[in-house]
Amino acid sequence: MSSLAEKLTSIVSVHFRAAGLDESFGTVRMSDRPDLCQFQCNGALAAAKALKRPPREVAQDIADRLKAEPIFAKIDLAGPGFINLDVTDAALADHLAALVADEQLGVADKGAGKTIVLDYGGPNVAKPMHVGHLRAGIIGDSLRRMYLFSGYRTIGDIHMGDWGLQMGQVISECARRHPEWPYFDAIFSGPYPKEPPFTFEALEEIYPTASKACKADPARMELARHATVELQSGRPGYRALWRHIVDVSVEGMKKNFGALNVFFDLWKGESDVHDRIGPMVRDLRAGGWALESEGALVIPVARNDDKKEMPPLMLYKTDGAVMYGTTDLATVAERVERYAPDRILYVVDQRQSLHFEQVFRAARLSRIAPENMDLTHAGFGTMNGTDGKPFKTREGGIMKLEDLIAMGLEKARARIAEAEIGRDMDADEVEDIAHKVAVAAIKFADLHNNRTADYVFDLDRMTRFEGKTGPYLLYQAVRIKSLLRKAAERGFAPSGNFVLHDPDRALAFVLADFPDAFEAGLRHDAPHHLCDYAWRLAQQFSGFYAACPILPEPDESLRASRLALCALTCRTLEKTLDLLGIGVPERM
Ligand code: ARG
Repeated sequence: MSSLAEKLTSIVSVHFRAAGLDESFGTVRMSDRPDLCQFQCNGALAAAKALKRPPREVAQDIADRLKAEPIFAKIDLAGPGFINLDVTDAALADHLAALVADEQLGVADKGAGKTIVLDYGGPNVAKPMHVGHLRAGIIGDSLRRMYLFSGYRTIGDIHMGDWGLQMGQVISECARRHPEWPYFDAIFSGPYPKEPPFTFEALEEIYPTASKACKADPARMELARHATVELQSGRPGYRALWRHIVDVSVEGMKKNFGALNVFFDLWKGESDVHDRIGPMVRDLRAGGWALESEGALVIPVARNDDKKEMPPLMLYKTDGAVMYGTTDLATVAERVERYAPDRILYVVDQRQSLHFEQVFRAARLSRIAPENMDLTHAGFGTMNGTDGKPFKTREGGIMKLEDLIAMGLEKARARIAEAEIGRDMDADEVEDIAHKVAVAAIKFADLHNNRTADYVFDLDRMTRFEGKTGPYLLYQAVRIKSLLRKAAERGFAPSGNFVLHDPDRALAFVLADFPDAFEAGLRHDAPHHLCDYAWRLAQQFSGFYAACPILPEPDESLRASRLALCALTCRTLEKTLDLLGIGVPERM
């Protein structure tokens, strides 16, 4: 199915074509002045400019032709050549009935037959997860949901950093503390212990200590680098210890992302492409793409028309350790081979844009990326504290994701108690609601910003039940659910015969706009379009409900029509929130 604006676009386009004009001028969109008209088409202006004809004349010509179309109740000219359009109530009612019957709520499956790999989350093994990974996880998971809804085959990959220097730092720190462990015994022939020698909490202490020591002491750093190279070249004890570090970390990641309802299809990491790197580098050398430069191996990616400096992509540094760019390039190759995607989308901090530009150029030059495959870096801005500086703990340390989730949950519990929600519920249900409120608060606060903008993490504000917040939207959705339940208890059924008065029509147009809001979000990889939509729909509903008491409505057909509008609003709001990764409780 298509949206109402799309339907009108195709009708109006035909008439532009019939008038000898390009049909692309026929774009119709929902009016931003609903007091004047429901829809507008501004194409006559551009068409007139191209033809050097008076715009009003062109607009009049099109308007005259549109009179033959029964879908329009009103066709007016405005300003220099805008065409203002209203549709008939019968057409609107038909469209609503089609929306009710459509599982996709009007969204076309434009992605059918296409595959996308989404790379998001990107936490680093052994290092604590922080707010950057929170943003990557939340935004990436929402985009995965959106692509899936649009019909794509989606593959969400967490792409952990599990192969870098931090691994050597942890290994060498363990060797210093526990030289007696079999992992460090060069003649030990195995098998290595099955149980990890540390817990997640212990690991969270080991890494920062090791990292600090390496920064302070070049000799320690040298040991860590050496351990990294040995790990990567396959020293058995190091590989065995590394496996434990990865497993213990992944457990922690699963807990954190699970708490946020952020899902991944693949739990792969940089290490997964290690075996590809040797052959890939050989090919890159043979093809003349990779060159020695000052002891390192690089792929020059600069172009003559570059406005800013574009350093080469580094494949190997002098010590032979694998670089971030090398694994990313090999990962492109792996994804192409395994999934033949039409697109790979990287949801990663904006500050890595140069890295991705280098990787993408190297992938294109070397034909690792097929020409018709799209590579996009969907970067995001920094999350700041209420002081406007990058978000930190009160003590000035890095805010761990786990602590942030716990803070959100605690605040949600307090808000729920304040609002006297759940007095008649058991403790489990209240806790489930608190969890949903916390997730809604954190995710909506993040997603409603333009992806690339920095934003302020204000826990107090985002957990409120009023204003443009996640909890407000949950509250509205639950309110409709409760209304529908009450109606069902009284035996009132919704009806597909829509009766449209002003408030009904106004709500109907917002419902009909869902596919367009969705498309805008998908086109720009920008979930904030859906956040704006959810807020608009909830507010429109709130106005509608205030103007039209539904259960007391004596006119049965009007009541049944309004119940159907409520049910459609509920579905649309819940779907919108679901696409943002936000779940709605049954009651609250
Ligand atoms: N681990 C990286 C970091 O913490 C993010 C990885 C993003 N994905 C990628 N394919 N490079 O910054």
